[in-house]
Amino acid sequence: ADYETLLIERHDAVTLVRLNRPQALNAINSQVLADLTAAFAAYDADREQRCLVLTGSEKAFAAGADIKEMQSKGFAEVFGTNYFAGWERVTATRKPWIAAVAGFALGGGCELAMMADFILAADTAKFGQPEIKLAVAPGMGGSQRLTRAVGKAKAMEMCLTGRMMDAEEAERASLVARIVPAADLIADALKTAATIAGMAPLAALANKEMVNAAFETGLSMGLLFERRLFHSLCGTEDKTEGMSAFAEKRAGVWTGR
Ligand code: HXC
Repeated sequence: ADYETLLIERHDAVTLVRLNRPQALNAINSQVLADLTAAFAAYDADREQRCLVLTGSEKAFAAGADIKEMQSKGFAEVFGTNYFAGWERVTATRKPWIAAVAGFALGGGCELAMMADFILAADTAKFGQPEIKLAVAPGMGGSQRLTRAVGKAKAMEMCLTGRMMDAEEAERASLVARIVPAADLIADALKTAATIAGMAPLAALANKEMVNAAFETGLSMGLLFERRLFHSLCGTEDKTEGMSAFAEKRAGVWTGR
């Protein structure tokens, strides 16, 4: 499919999605949301595709929600249309996906990156929630996901001052999984995605579900959820294959069953 605001490449079982509104530093407007929703739904439905990388340009992952689009929208319109609720369809993606961030990830751009299963950051990455400078506040999850990622002190300081965090600080604060030299970002992200894509598909879904459960449940329910999902995986053909392959010192060959 062709998208107005995205460029899509297939690298074997990995889908690479690039945000492509260079004239606006990849600011996220309604078209970007519509395109991402469609691209992620297509990825989730495609049995051949096993991991996805979302990236922007060297200068900007995304410089925020599109301020020029929001400029004329008042309360009745945004509340009435539940503006930004569409992101729930992106976060409902069941298969793994990675945000590969270079340059600015501000406002909605930071929030979009935080929707990913994890963030790989180029050493040029800058994260921030500067909405307060526009007399608003995060609206796509920033106050919740940033706080869960880096804790109250840093999240509160970032939201109240609108300052940016560089890649080093973001890694120290556990906002990002790893920092990569900017020139290697896409290659590293594709390699990491290929590693994930090489895992048994049901195990990938289950690992993602159980880590996410840690953000939704108390510890005892989370541990029970984990144990039950582990029990479920023991009923798969791929578990038999995975453990046989280990014993026979060979690579497993997955059926996704
Ligand atoms: C619309 C944007 C934009 C945005 C940049 N542009 N960010 N357009 N929405 N969020 C446009 C600029 O208007 C400009 O267009 C072009 O992209 C290049 O940007 P410059 O500012 O000229 O680039 P530079 O000087 O390098 O500065 C980069 C920057 C700055 C520091 C990232 O662009 C910036 O501060 N952007 C806004 C960041 C921000 O506040 N994000 C949060 C948005 S609110 P022209 O046509 O002039 O060339 C949000 C929250 C949503 O995301 C929830 C709240 C309801």
